[in-house]
Amino acid sequence: MRPSELLALAETIPGCLSQIEMAALLALALEVRSHPGDIVEVGALFGKSTVLLTAGGHVTTIDCGGPVVQWMLDASEPKPTAQLGDDVTAHLHRYLEPFRPGVTVAPGLSELVLPTLSDRSAKLVFLDGDHCSPAVDADIRQAMRLVQPGGILVLHDFRTVPEYQPWPDVQDALWRAMRQNGVITEWPRAMFAGRIGAWYRLA
Ligand SMILES: C[S@@+](CC[C@H](N)C(=O)[O-])C[C@H]1O[C@@H](n2cnc3c(N)ncnc32)[C@H](O)[C@@H]1O
Repeated sequence: MRPSELLALAETIPGCLSQIEMAALLALALEVRSHPGDIVEVGALFGKSTVLLTAGGHVTTIDCGGPVVQWMLDASEPKPTAQLGDDVTAHLHRYLEPFRPGVTVAPGLSELVLPTLSDRSAKLVFLDGDHCSPAVDADIRQAMRLVQPGGILVLHDFRTVPEYQPWPDVQDALWRAMRQNGVITEWPRAMFAGRIGAWYRLA
């Protein structure tokens, strides 16, 4: 699908990305389109972000699934047709149907799935799963292991913007991970859009 078609389709999927964040995620995915390697996502919900990431190539998306709960209905735009208690993963599969085999859904907790992926196998990692410590610490540590030289680490809810719930643990976790062992020098360039923060690993 062309990038403009992906954007139009993603707009119809309920989820947690503003318009500027959708555009930014699409642009980041397009940046790595010609790179080898996989795109890894944690936290698909109904697949809004996943669809945009397919602009960059194959996506492995990890989500623990479970029932639709109130915050998903409250936070989503457009409003979901899903009902409380529906299976999130069933909706995800339905929305991602047109993208097979370009997307692999890996059901489960990121703390169990991310460690099974190979070092430096990802050209882009997008984290939008559990936003609280210690889970976000673990996800960022794993993501930094997975992103290959020249690749991009992208966090949702890294920044606080008006009208959206703040998630301070995400920023704290990134800072802790970057500070360790002078790793910060490996990620010298960053980009911010809405609540998104993206870091480029040195090639
Ligand atoms: C904020 S939503 C993701 C929104 C999505 N990226 C979008 O564009 O609409 C968070 C998702 O992360 C999943 N999740 C939360 N904690 C997780 C964990 N530890 N491992 C895997 N998935 C998790 C939830 O099931 C939920 O679908």
